Amino acid sequence: MGIKTLEEIEKIKAAGKICKKILLETAAILKAGMTTFEIAEFAEFLMEKEGVKSAFYGYRGYPGLICISINEEVVHGIPSKTKIIRSGDIVSLDIGIIKDGYIGDCAITCSVGNVGAEKQRLINVTRDSLKIGISSVYAGCKTGDIGWAIQSYVEKFGFSVVRDFAGHGVGRNLHEPPEVPNFGYPGKGYQLPENMVIAIEPMVNMGSFDLRILPDGWTVVTADGLPSAHFEDTIVVKKNGCEILTSTE
Ligand code: MF3
Ligand code: CO
Repeated sequence: MGIKTLEEIEKIKAAGKICKKILLETAAILKAGMTTFEIAEFAEFLMEKEGVKSAFYGYRGYPGLICISINEEVVHGIPSKTKIIRSGDIVSLDIGIIKDGYIGDCAITCSVGNVGAEKQRLINVTRDSLKIGISSVYAGCKTGDIGWAIQSYVEKFGFSVVRDFAGHGVGRNLHEPPEVPNFGYPGKGYQLPENMVIAIEPMVNMGSFDLRILPDGWTVVTADGLPSAHFEDTIVVKKNGCEILTSTE
């Protein structure tokens, strides 16, 4: 299952590099007063410029080009002409692109204006939990080792890790086996072989991990209405660690 050749890894890396570039360039234009539709339009412009396509549009019927999730929205927010970014919001941008048949998938959460200390801490802890998850990867490690690394870090700050969505294998398809949960026990789960490509994507809630889906059928929100943050990178498992494929370097 899912071990990639070096040629395939190079293609995912090329897709991942463009994906992260588009993500960062899109994040750079976030401003209070913009609609999430305008943000997605800018991302679309960048995709066209780079000659790549959205990996999300039409996936299981998803109607947007990217996902934009604000404050208590956890993931899968659909860009909308009536949704306006305000100062003090935290905004999660999740972008997947397909280039040359292979996918790159990455996400970040940004602050718009002054979001206050607690929301900023949520962003920082989520970002650092992804780094810690990535640092725990090596050929032969188990998905539970990654989940435990993320969960135990996040819970030290009194935040909770989302249970209902997980990271995943990446390749020609957006979601391939294995599932990579952001919680778990060391030594448990699926053992990752060298050259497997996975996306690790902690979703961290300020309050409880319970979720709800909005009537649009996509937008995932926290049940308690408290904010949530999300960071994601696509990586390839290596003998003594891993390499981040969604990197602009
Ligand atoms: N990056 C997210 C994921 O990997 C979003 C994809 S869902 C989609 O699950 F439907 F929007 F494509
Ligand atoms: Co993903």
